[in-house]
This record gives sequence, C-alpha cells and structure tokens, in this order.
Amino acid sequence: MTTLADKKVLLGITGGIAAYKTPELVRRLRDAGAQVRVVMTPAAQAFIAPLTLQAVSGHRVHSELLDAEAEAGMGHIELARWADELVIAPATAHAIARLAHGFADDLLATLALATEARISVVPAMNRVMWASRPVTENCQRLEALGMRLLGPASGEQACGEVGAGRMIEPDQIVAALSDKTDLLAGHRFVVTAGPTHEALDPVRFLGNRSSGRMGFCLAAALAEAGARVDLVAGPVNLATPPGVSRCDVQSAREMLAAVMARIEGADGFVGVAAVADYRPESVADHKIKKSDEALAMRLVPNPDILAEVSKHPARPSLVMGFAAETRDLAEAARQKLARKQLDLIAANLVGDGLAFDCKENALEVFSTERHWSLPQQAKSMLARALVDIIAERMPSKGG
Ligand code: PMT
Repeated sequence: MTTLADKKVLLGITGGIAAYKTPELVRRLRDAGAQVRVVMTPAAQAFIAPLTLQAVSGHRVHSELLDAEAEAGMGHIELARWADELVIAPATAHAIARLAHGFADDLLATLALATEARISVVPAMNRVMWASRPVTENCQRLEALGMRLLGPASGEQACGEVGAGRMIEPDQIVAALSDKTDLLAGHRFVVTAGPTHEALDPVRFLGNRSSGRMGFCLAAALAEAGARVDLVAGPVNLATPPGVSRCDVQSAREMLAAVMARIEGADGFVGVAAVADYRPESVADHKIKKSDEALAMRLVPNPDILAEVSKHPARPSLVMGFAAETRDLAEAARQKLARKQLDLIAANLVGDGLAFDCKENALEVFSTERHWSLPQQAKSMLARALVDIIAERMPSKGG
C-alpha cells in the first residue's frame, strides 16, 4: 500500500545521465497519488527536455531563479512552501557539494534552503567519484543537516564501470518516500552501534574497524518509521540521526551498562555494534614502556550484551543481533540465532574490505522459520529494508 496520496512532491533534477529515468519517476509518483512539480538545473536540461517532464507531470517545469513569469505565480518561496517533500534525483557530486554548503545561486539550491519540507537526495555518479573523500564528507554533512540519502545502488554504470554510484530505481524512490511514519509508532527501540575500545593503558586500546554507519542508519530508519530510538554508540565520528536519543560509550562494559539502563520498557533491541569479545585483564596506570622483550597480555572475556538482553526479565518482544562472519555465513548465523535465543539475526560477510567501514553492505537475515536475502546496497537502504522485516514481527500497538 502506498501512502503518497495528496503528498506534494517537488522533484529537483540535476545534470546526470540518470536524468533519463525521471519521467518514469514522475509517473510512478503520480500513480502513488502524489502531486508532482519539477525543477531542473540548466545542466539537467542537457540530458532531458523540460517539455518531457512538463508532459508527464502536467505542470510547467521551473528552472530559473529570477523568472518574472514564475515570480508572478509560483516563485521559489511559493514552491518551497508548497512542497511536502523535496526529492533531488539524480543528485550529481556537484549538486551534493552545493547542497552541503548552502549555495543559493540557482532555483534548486535556493529551494533547498527555503523549504521546510523533508529533503531526500538520490546520488548518481561514477563509482570512483562516489568513493572519493570530498563526496563522502559532503554526504556526511548533508545527513548532519537533516537531509536523507537514498542510495546509491551498485551495478553497471553508464560510464561502463561496475560499482556503487548508480541511481536507485524509481520504484525504490517511491517506496522510500511512502509515508511509513506510523509503521513503528508507539514502539521504543534500543540500538547499539560502532566498535568498543578496550583500554590497555591511558593511551592505547584494542578495537576494530566498525564505523558505526550500519547501526546509525538503522537507528535513523527506525526513527523515520515512528519509533522512539535510544542509540548506544561506541567511539565513532558520525552525526546523531534526527529524532534519535544518543548515549556515547567506549568499552563493552560501558555499553552493557548503558543498554541495561534503557532496556526496561523497550519493545525492541538491535545489537549492531561490533563489541570486543575480549578485553585486557588489567589496564596499566601509566603508558606501557617500549622494551626489546616480547609483550604478553592476558585477555578476559567481555559480557555478551545481546545474550544478556535476550535472557533479561524485561526482555523486549523483539531481540535482533548481527553476525559478522568470514565463512559459513548461514550456518554460523543460525547457530547464533539459536544460542542467543534471538528473534532475528542479520549476517554479513566481513574481511577483505567487506561490511566494516564502508558505505554498502549485503545481509542475509534469518528468523527460526524464514530467510531474507538483502543484496549489496547502501547501508541506508538496507536499514529501511530491515525496518520492514522488523515491523512485520512487532506486535501492533493499536491506535
Ligand atoms: O559499523 P559499520 O562500519 O557500518 O559495520 C557494520 C558491521 C559490520 C559492524 C555490522 O554489520 C555487524 O556485523 N555488526 C556485528 C559485529 C559483530 O560483533 O558480530 P559478532 O558475530 O561478533 O557478534 C554477534 C552479535 O553479538 C552482534 O549483534 C554483536 O553486537 C553481539 N555481541 C557480540 C559480542 C559481545 N560481547 N556482545 C554482543 O552483544
């Protein structure tokens, strides 16, 4: 069921080859019940004619910031006020940079500043550009400013290369815009994310490569679906998603304490964090001095936060874990599902640049009776797919 009925969607098209998919996007949005107006940058018009968008949207296409005709009717402020949703698709690296830095020298950039509508940015670019540091940092800035990224997808690109950077399909954009804000309304979730750091001495720690991105994307998607979310984050460098309450911790034991302080009354718990299984038995009071001798260190097991939550007297009705495996993914995940008495487990292959500290991932999700395969895609999209699986299994709160 789509819930775009009577939503006012302003579609901003920028100059990328994926602009050829936008007439189809407009059609799908209108099929889902949305009213659609289109804004094009000058570069977008090199890829697709405004007349095509005018025909499919049923309205004049806007492109000029200073347009006497438009100012008399739908000027940029009116358009900004009109919209419930601003979707920028495709969003080029250039458009993302401009949005991230608040430019206001063309109609689309100005609208993005002037609107109070939710802004969704749908990136499309060459895979090397997508992986570049400036684009990564600009995207982080967009998210910190409250805009959401939809995609990109992986696959064959217009430039002939294969990798992440393709615009997601019109159907996926429509699904992401569809109003799911009440899907998990009334539910509260506790989510862990990121690594833990286990101190060796005042300046050193044992840690791992988790960036926290998967857990933060899941927290954001749960909040988008209407849930109240308490995010317990290990040491990461990420902005708190809108509507999420965050507690920062360093070690596994601190993470356990923060989770336990929040678990009473929670409806769901999702352990995405890469919690260190072991910690040094003792922490040196002073920096350990270098010597020519080998250094032996005794490690002791950390508490298993997920297992503790699962057997807690106030166990949430849904407890979900992740499994990071380098082999035998399905078998290992099923074993963890049973051993820790979980309702769901999402398993990913790790190592060789997979899953940890990257923007994309693929997940195999298991319950005792079902299996879902979520192919390689942006972690933000994966998180939304996980929310659909989670929501199916949550008892209704009524209302
Ligand atoms: O943070 P990113 O860079 O985005 O990367 C995402 C991720 C790879 C970290 C994520 O997708 C993931 O796989 N998270 C789980 C990592 C992990 O520790 O897996 P595991 O198989 O060792 O642990 C199984 C489950 O037990 C996990 O839910 C973990 O949170 C939990 N656990 C583990 C040990 C422990 N002491 N306490 C726990 O709660």
